[in-house]
Amino acid sequence: EDIGSFRSNLLSWYDQTKRELPWRTVAMTEKDINVRTYAVWVSEIMLQQTQVATVIDYYNKWMKKWPTVEKLAEATLEEVNQMWAGLGYYSRGRRLHEGSQKVVSELGGEMPRTTEQLLKQLPGVGRYTAGAISSIALGQVAGAVDGNVIRVLCRARAIGADSTSPAVTEALWKIADTLVDPQRPGDFNQAMMELGARVCTPKNPLCNQCPIKTHCHAFKKVSVKQEKECNTL
Ligand code: ADE
Repeated sequence: EDIGSFRSNLLSWYDQTKRELPWRTVAMTEKDINVRTYAVWVSEIMLQQTQVATVIDYYNKWMKKWPTVEKLAEATLEEVNQMWAGLGYYSRGRRLHEGSQKVVSELGGEMPRTTEQLLKQLPGVGRYTAGAISSIALGQVAGAVDGNVIRVLCRARAIGADSTSPAVTEALWKIADTLVDPQRPGDFNQAMMELGARVCTPKNPLCNQCPIKTHCHAFKKVSVKQEKECNTL
């Protein structure tokens, strides 16, 4: 199949419709790799269980108070919890704080620079978050499979099997790692997330607006018939 056209269709759609989000601006314009990585890390942890619209304010306030990993490491847990108030799942803030102290005391103040290091060295960073940070902040060619991306890939590849099974999860990561655009991995992954959030929705997906419908096996098979094609999501 034509992966090149899948990528270019998706990325043109993203370029035309993407939202300007503060962490995206930092990822594109910040020259200091340590600040870039820190900023995307903060955003991805906030986005783990909270919607984009809610995260924006929290993210901006956080970055104003603690613009670098060193500043965060100097904060107290009380300050962190106070800043987190209203976001929920407070362990996320605590892990950011712990992680910042580890970066400063054990890693010489340098944020991890690869997907594997992010995964190993930062508490609260799993496979998805490591891929997101490394692709968005560091330009590494890594897939990032979250709930939205699982749904998009299951439909695009007409995977009817249980997407929570380890075998299917593994297969989805392989597909994501193969599809990701080596020229623009961070934009590609964010485009997949955005497609899942705004077009390839759980119920009543907007297939007519979908930039990759000609590549979508579920679409080609008459219609999405979401529950059947995409099982648990
Ligand atoms: N959800 C998780 N990461 C995201 C990102 N970088 N942009 C939009 N939504 C997201």
